[in-house]
Order: sequence, then structure tokens, then C-alpha cells
Amino acid sequence: MNKDIKIVNNIEEILLKEELSKQDIISLLNANEHEKTSIFAKALQIKREQIGNKVWFRGLIEFSNLCSKNCFYCGIRSGNTNVHRYEVTDNEIIDAVNYAYNNQFGSIVLQAGERTNKSYIQRITDIIRKIKKLSNGELGITLSLGEQTEETYRKWFDAGAHRYLIRIEVSNRELYKKLHPSDNNHIYDKRIEALQLLQKIGYQVGTGVMIGLPFQTIENLAEDLLFFKDFGIDMIGMGPYIEHEDTPLYQYKDTLLSKKERFDLSLKMIAILRIMMKNINIAATTAMQSIDPLGREKALKVGANIIMPNLTPVKYRSDYLLYEDKPCINEEAEECKNCLEARVKMAGDEIAYGEWGDSRYFFNRQKSH
Ligand code: 5AD
Ligand code: SF4
Ligand code: FES
Repeated sequence: MNKDIKIVNNIEEILLKEELSKQDIISLLNANEHEKTSIFAKALQIKREQIGNKVWFRGLIEFSNLCSKNCFYCGIRSGNTNVHRYEVTDNEIIDAVNYAYNNQFGSIVLQAGERTNKSYIQRITDIIRKIKKLSNGELGITLSLGEQTEETYRKWFDAGAHRYLIRIEVSNRELYKKLHPSDNNHIYDKRIEALQLLQKIGYQVGTGVMIGLPFQTIENLAEDLLFFKDFGIDMIGMGPYIEHEDTPLYQYKDTLLSKKERFDLSLKMIAILRIMMKNINIAATTAMQSIDPLGREKALKVGANIIMPNLTPVKYRSDYLLYEDKPCINEEAEECKNCLEARVKMAGDEIAYGEWGDSRYFFNRQKSH
């Protein structure tokens, strides 16, 4: 029998299974150009059945690039002295929030580097309350503010935040250690504990990984997908790792997959995740678009259903460069909105304005507890 045909059958057979094993996922991640079309078609079919053609917007406000951490991959790590540090004022945050509210974005994301001092925590609490008030409780609030104490997570939850994003970055403990300084500030177990605490408190919890990192294997990526499933994660944001000159990992740039390969692997990761976790929220991340101008549309076509338009005031955007070639550095909120509307349409989807777009998976998870 022709060997190629046997492999095609294999992928088709895997796609018929209820549960994917690690070996199945590895086979899917290794699928060739021809085989991957079946994976993408299946993922799109599941998205259409479970979610329809809706895409939800989350207005992203990157309100500060101050960070106490020093992750080896990140352009705004504390050790990078070439970064001009900024902090968006409360009024500017509220302006961006008003833009989101007036334009019927169902929710906003407050994202910043990690800080844990008392006055900062209080400031965030106050901003969350303000946002709830000005939008009559209508705007959903997602936080992406790094590791905090249980008390802080609770405080922000009680103030009105209902989702929290904290990427595991890589689920393999050894690889995590290689990508972070070995100090008390970058502990794998604390990262895991953060996800557990957030779930316990009642947040919808989002996590994610970078794809195509130095030292990362296909097996690691398969483990990442299984990690999301085992953990019962509600939302995922993942995308290609993109090198940044002012980071320690830059020295490995010649060992990386090509950007195109990292992009293709990211699309496969999204598609396989949609097949494994049918009704979670999956973001078409900005990093996808930094490699391929049509990256976010392509992500929507293989299972993603969330887009995070950037609402950070333009004057700060070039200082929030976690990686190279980040798109939308000079575009005002309105331009990105119009641009994304066209992009979503191109992908055959529709923006669901004025809806929170909570992960259905989350409600099922709540019920089963
Ligand atoms: N390439 C891609 N993504 C990155 N992030 C940080 N640095 C990079 C990079 N060089 C991601 C991390 C972090 C999120 C906010 O941005 O996953 O959690
Ligand atoms: Fe800080 Fe996040 Fe960058 Fe790590 S990835 S240095 S926590 S902003
Ligand atoms: Fe920002 Fe297209 S999404 S300009």
C-alpha cells in the first residue's frame, strides 16, 4: 500500500476519535500540508456547530509597561533598560473604556506588566469599580495583571472583574525554568497555583502558551494542549513566540523554526484545541498578525472566536513591544475597529456587538461542581 495514503487515513482516523491521546496530538501537529486541511476543516465545523459565526471583541488596554519580572523572552522585562516606561493615566483609561462602551464592545481587558504594591492594587480596585459604574455594569472586565495574592484576586473579583488571563507560557516545568530566571519571582508552582486560585474564586480563567520557543518540542506542545484540557481552562490565547533583540533568548534566534513554520504550528495548535475543547473561547492573537498580515483571519478560520482590538492610546503603543513587528502601533482605536470588522467579515464571521461572549464551557464547568 502507498505509504502516503496510509498516513492520510491515520489523520482521518484520529479526527474521528472522541478523546485525543498525546500521540494523536503529536501526529496532528506533525500533519503535512495536505493532511492539515482535514484538521482545519474539522475545527471550523466544530466552531460553526458550537459557536456559530460569532466573534466577540475584547477591547485591550495595555495601561503600563512597568514590570517587576524578567522573563527571558519578553521585550518589556525589567532588565531591559532600552524601554521607555509608561503609565496610562486613570482618565486615559476611562476614555478608552468609554470608547469600548460607546462602540458596544462587550468587554475590556486591562493588561500591564506585573506589579504587586499596595497602592497599585488599590488603584486597580478603584478603576474596576469606576468601569462598572460608568457602564451600568454592562461592560465585562478581564484582568491580565500577572501573579497576585489570593486576597488581591478576591478584591478585584468583588470589585467587578470576572475574567482573568494568566498564561502558563509553557506547561513543562523544566522548559519553564529555562525560560525564566531562577529566583522567587518566577516559580512554576506559583503560576499553577495562580490558575487554581482564580478558578476557586470564580473567575473565568484564561491561559495560553507561546509556540516555537527555543528548546520547545512538538511533544511539549501536545502536553500544553492536554494541560488546558485537564485544567478545565475556559479561554485560551496562544500564538507564535517572536524574538526580541533586547532579551536573553535572542541568542538562540538561529535555532528557531522559521516564522512561517511557527505561524503554521500556531494555526494547528488552535485547530486541535478547538477539536479537543469544543466550546471554550479561543483568541485570534495579535502575535499571529505580526508574522502574517492575515494572521488573525486565518486563526478565526481554524477555530478562534475572540479578537482583542487595541484601545491603548496610540502615544504609548510603541513602548509595549513584547516582541518584534507588533502590528497596530500607529492605528487609532477607530482604525483598528474598522480594519478588524473587515477582517472578521473576510473570515466569514460576524462581530457580536454588545455581548459579553462568555465561554459556554465556563457555565458547564460551574454546573458540574
Ligand atoms: N513573543 C510572543 N509572545 C510573547 N509574550 C511575551 N513575550 C513574547 C514574545 N517574545 C507573551 C507572553 C505573555 C503575553 C502577555 O505576551 O505569553 O504572557
Ligand atoms: Fe513582565 Fe509579562 Fe513580560 Fe514577563 S511576560 S516580563 S511578566 S510583561
Ligand atoms: Fe489594527 Fe488592522 S487591526 S490596524
